[in-house]
Amino acid sequence: MTLNNENTRKLTGAIELLLESSSRINEAKPRRYWYPLSLATYGVEEIVEALDSLCSFRTTMWEKTLQFERQFAAYQGCSDSVMVNSGSSADLLLCFLLTNPYHPLLQTGDEILIPVVTWPTQIWSAMMAGLKVKFVDVDPKTLNIDIDDLEKKITPATKAIFLVHLMGNPCDMDRIMAIAKAHNLLIIEDCCEALGAEWDGVRVGNFGVAASYSFFFSHHMTTMEGGMIACSNPEVAEQLKILRAHGWVRNVDPTLYNLHNYDIDPRYAFVNWGFNVRPTDVQASFGLHQLQKLPHFNQRRVELANKFFAFIDTEPVLYRPQVSPKASPSWFALPILVATEAPFSRKEIVNYLELQGVETRPIVAGNIAKHPVANIFSAFLEDTYSGANIIHEQGFYIGLSPFHTDQDIDKLIKCLKSFLRRY
Ligand SMILES: Cc1ncc(COP(=O)(O)O)c(C=O)c1O
Repeated sequence: MTLNNENTRKLTGAIELLLESSSRINEAKPRRYWYPLSLATYGVEEIVEALDSLCSFRTTMWEKTLQFERQFAAYQGCSDSVMVNSGSSADLLLCFLLTNPYHPLLQTGDEILIPVVTWPTQIWSAMMAGLKVKFVDVDPKTLNIDIDDLEKKITPATKAIFLVHLMGNPCDMDRIMAIAKAHNLLIIEDCCEALGAEWDGVRVGNFGVAASYSFFFSHHMTTMEGGMIACSNPEVAEQLKILRAHGWVRNVDPTLYNLHNYDIDPRYAFVNWGFNVRPTDVQASFGLHQLQKLPHFNQRRVELANKFFAFIDTEPVLYRPQVSPKASPSWFALPILVATEAPFSRKEIVNYLELQGVETRPIVAGNIAKHPVANIFSAFLEDTYSGANIIHEQGFYIGLSPFHTDQDIDKLIKCLKSFLRRY
């Protein structure tokens, strides 16, 4: 921070006033939801830090991004991390890392297995990077990849698995790693909904080549928009930094690329193709403070989710994801499935909750093969995905924020009880 203590104190006072008056204005407005999907988790510290970047004219990727990347790698327990402008960009770079023309780990056209229930940019990233996506069904009991179907889908052309730990519930990494080893498959992980979750004491995101994270507003921590890639080694980080910024040897060691053999200005030297998916230091300013708060945020998420799930477990017509004894979830939201034998439909319970002021969403895209986009790509037609269909037809989620209270969860439970009493 370039601001001194006195200026920080003055700014803090001004921001507190602004936050107070904006919350008064918001409270006066009629609100559709008393239980919204997400609540703001940032405050004075993040705003002062961001203003410091703005006022020192260091808004683009600069020291704070580097500092945040180092601190994130230390939290995650990985070799390096590379910040980008969204979780979708992190997925994109992960896949382009695999088919990277400079140092390909896979060939264009190689098969990659992806669960059919996920946030769609995970799928688009693999397709755009030239990989052949083969969908694997999802187990409605865990919301994660159906490992029996995963084994069935492996062919000699299969070279990688792109996992997702949906809703923060870790996949069974013992079985998946054994399968990957037996078939010599690369693993990459989408942890955009699972920051802080662990399998057998190991943070998810540390099982493969690299892993993606999202810092969108409603996620475990926020940089407004933003994302991160956790890398298993420094070479991966180096390649990702080039892909992140134009294929340019900026922020990497230029001596590795024999630039002296070329009649070019080394300040504008390009060694690969690439995107521009760089973050800003304003986003990193948020990240530095949010990361400090993350352990507390995640603890509250787990406490609130456990309270809610303890109620769901008493209701025979509702169920929630099963958790392996080896898993420590880091809940992203409160997912619920309506049992097949329930005397009401998912639509009925969702409509009731919405009318009562509880915001809901489907379990991400449900079965993505049922969306209009499936008409464009033949990969969707190769199976019918019975597990994903259950999630599609019977599943929904309610939001979860560390700033929701125990009283909010009590009220939510009361609301669900009064719906269930009708049947
Ligand atoms: C599993 C998963 N992957 C990727 C993303 C994309 O992240 P972003 O919204 O930051 O682009 C999301 C977003 O919610 C997600 O849930």
